[in-house]
Amino acid sequence: MLKYPEPRPRILEIDPYVGGSAEIAGKKNVIKLSSNEAALGPSGEAIRAYKAHSERISRYPDGGASELKLALCGIHNIDPNRIVCGAGSDELLQLLCRAYAGPGDEVLFTEHGFLVYKLAALASGASPIAVPETNLCANVDQILNAVSKDTRIIFIANPNNPTGSYLSRSEIHRLWSNLPSNIILVIDAAYAEYAGLQDYNCGIDLVDSSENVVMTRTFSKLYGLASLRVGWCYAPGSIVDVLNRVRGPFNVTGAAIEAATAALSDRDHINKSLALNDKWLNSFPDQLSGTKIKCLPSAGNFILMQFPSIKGQSATDAEKFLIKNGIIVRNVESYGLPDCLRITMGLDHEMETVILKLNEFARIP
Ligand SMILES: Cc1ncc(COP(=O)(O)O)c(C=O)c1O
Repeated sequence: MLKYPEPRPRILEIDPYVGGSAEIAGKKNVIKLSSNEAALGPSGEAIRAYKAHSERISRYPDGGASELKLALCGIHNIDPNRIVCGAGSDELLQLLCRAYAGPGDEVLFTEHGFLVYKLAALASGASPIAVPETNLCANVDQILNAVSKDTRIIFIANPNNPTGSYLSRSEIHRLWSNLPSNIILVIDAAYAEYAGLQDYNCGIDLVDSSENVVMTRTFSKLYGLASLRVGWCYAPGSIVDVLNRVRGPFNVTGAAIEAATAALSDRDHINKSLALNDKWLNSFPDQLSGTKIKCLPSAGNFILMQFPSIKGQSATDAEKFLIKNGIIVRNVESYGLPDCLRITMGLDHEMETVILKLNEFARIP
């Protein structure tokens, strides 16, 4: 008999997720651009709904989140019965693994894909398989090559965090159309709202026309509600049925449901947030053009910056320099990108300070 309680196999292989830091010891007024949160924060409507909810916190929330689902249907023209809401989209990624992948099964994602996929696979006892990328972008042929009889789920972040790269609608379609129908293709569209490119598609039409595609979305990014933990997925009826069996009965709080519903209705705020993001996504790389920093193209609300591997000029040196100056960006070593830092697009004064400091740090003499 064991002397102590032992977790299921693979659980101890999990390195707990470490998010972007939020503080610098001894510094006030820190510029925090490390977690891809919304620069403008949430809509005033969402804050009002959140506060109004304080009157009702003794009651359980609506376990079906019907109000939020109806609001989502109005915007996306989709069937409310195919939506499942979650405590962040993270929860839905975890539940998909728990329900569909276990010991002996494989869960695929790409080399520099969002970290949670590996954690979710291990937590369910499945084997995580990282598929090589090409030039920091998912490669459909490589993914198809990696599919085996044991593959159960493929996660694609589209656009991907932290690289900012994306797969076009036709590439996603090519991937799906070459997959056996027993494999779930999860299109994690956490940054879909920012991806205004013509050949981008969040995956709703593929969910509509298939039995094995799931799209996940979040209110943590554009809608500025990261702390409330609310996300949703759009999925075929059979998968919705399974997720509703494995999720907690009240997995999304009432405050989150109401704030998210209100956030969807504030088009003005959404447009302002998108305009601010576009402005900096376009001008940030230009304003670093006189430096040794390479900015990778991004379809999200963040940019991956690549630094030369030279002592004094590396990503590690840049991170230290920024911290000294009260600026926090994301170290992406855990994503296999030790020569890079990821920066979230912030407010005007934040971006101006960062640009000034990075030019000071890395200007080409
Ligand atoms: C690609 C991607 N998917 C999912 C998430 C999780 O978002 P949340 O759980 O806050 O909805 C994130 C958060 O950073 C992300 O970058």
